[in-house]
Amino acid sequence: MEAKTDVIGGVDIGARAKARCDLLGLPPYSEVEGQLTRRFLTPAHDAALTALAGWMREAGMSARRDAAASLIGRYEGETADAPALIIGSHIDSVRNGGRYDGPLGIMLGIDVVEALHRAGRRLPFAIEVVAFGDEEGSRFPASMSCSRAIAGTLGAAALAMTDADGISVAEALAAFGGDPAGVASAARKPEDVLAFLEAHIEQGPVLEAEGLPLGVVTAIAAQKRLIVRIIGTAGHAGTTPMALRKDPGPAAAECILALERICRAGTDGLVGTAGRITALPGAFNVIPGAVEFSMDIRAETSATRDAAVDAISAEIHAIAAARGLTAQIRLAQALAESPCDPSLMALLDESLADLGLPARRLPSGAGHDAMVMADLCPTAMLFIRCEGGISHNPAEAVTEADCALAARAMLGFVEKLAANPLRPSRPLRGASG
Ligand code: GLV
Ligand code: MN
Ligand code: MN
Repeated sequence: MEAKTDVIGGVDIGARAKARCDLLGLPPYSEVEGQLTRRFLTPAHDAALTALAGWMREAGMSARRDAAASLIGRYEGETADAPALIIGSHIDSVRNGGRYDGPLGIMLGIDVVEALHRAGRRLPFAIEVVAFGDEEGSRFPASMSCSRAIAGTLGAAALAMTDADGISVAEALAAFGGDPAGVASAARKPEDVLAFLEAHIEQGPVLEAEGLPLGVVTAIAAQKRLIVRIIGTAGHAGTTPMALRKDPGPAAAECILALERICRAGTDGLVGTAGRITALPGAFNVIPGAVEFSMDIRAETSATRDAAVDAISAEIHAIAAARGLTAQIRLAQALAESPCDPSLMALLDESLADLGLPARRLPSGAGHDAMVMADLCPTAMLFIRCEGGISHNPAEAVTEADCALAARAMLGFVEKLAANPLRPSRPLRGASG
């Protein structure tokens, strides 16, 4: 049986945060019946933002959408122009994803504000709860458009990227009611933002294995997204002898095995994934003219990641050349490793200690909007145990009790930040790349 949850100001914070994520797991908040698929700038994204805005207002916040489709709830501080602690995460999902990857961090942020609001508590800073819309990059080749807009790092190239139907980010944003020409207006001034806090399920098995509900993130791994296209000659599957084919299919298979071999041999948490593979035109009886696959390559440092990308790229060109084919490799996105702020980590450690919990520190192999927000302000992340470490899977699960502990830890963090006369050390701008 699940442990008791936690009631603050009449709100069962753990249970409610989880229930809200569950409610958003089905249509109209999902594009697909019977599963959760909520991609950036779709009607399901719009419906979810509308529901979130209602909950933000009930919690005592104003709510608005910015030009790049982030939803921003604001709870004013003691003075109207106080800088903001931003608490947030993402509302988009992978295809057929879990219900807590992203939304839980937003729901917990709303609960934290509601607890303060019901207690009539104002702080020396404002709190903004933000729902980013594009952390997963499940619609367009790059990701994190919303947080990049807020951090002031979203360039024109990102707006020109197209989805599988040829619709650009700019076109989809305009149809959504955003303002592609005005995304610069979404950028926040560093002096208006105190820090960024993101609570997120761990998406890995470490906390569960150690019997711990919460952990403090030390850093987020560097990542690159690349698109590889192996070009051959389309032909008839029945009439073209095997020796006379220019078939990019087996070449792509060899390339993916090379990706696996190089990453298996790597250090510093090097991992590589070919998560999307497309043969074109894609038919039983046609030798493909081209095969395209994605590569997602991550490591603790950009240097390790880049060395692996170079080695894999060289192998891909060699494999294609040996078969008389051409390889094209295009970079879709690069994000540098992102250390969390030491003084903010210490505040999270202290709030966990107040709850009788050890301050387990751990790195994040998953990407998060926090790594983009680090270009704007100091960042901190709180990890929440998830069942079996399973994520990017509808089987994703968390307990109400762990959600309640996370909300308590976040409230503790907020109060400690309010009491702490020291401003956190600010990292340099320009960490993405
Ligand atoms: C998002 O979950 C990512 O790590 O890519
Ligand atoms: Mn996520
Ligand atoms: Mn995810």
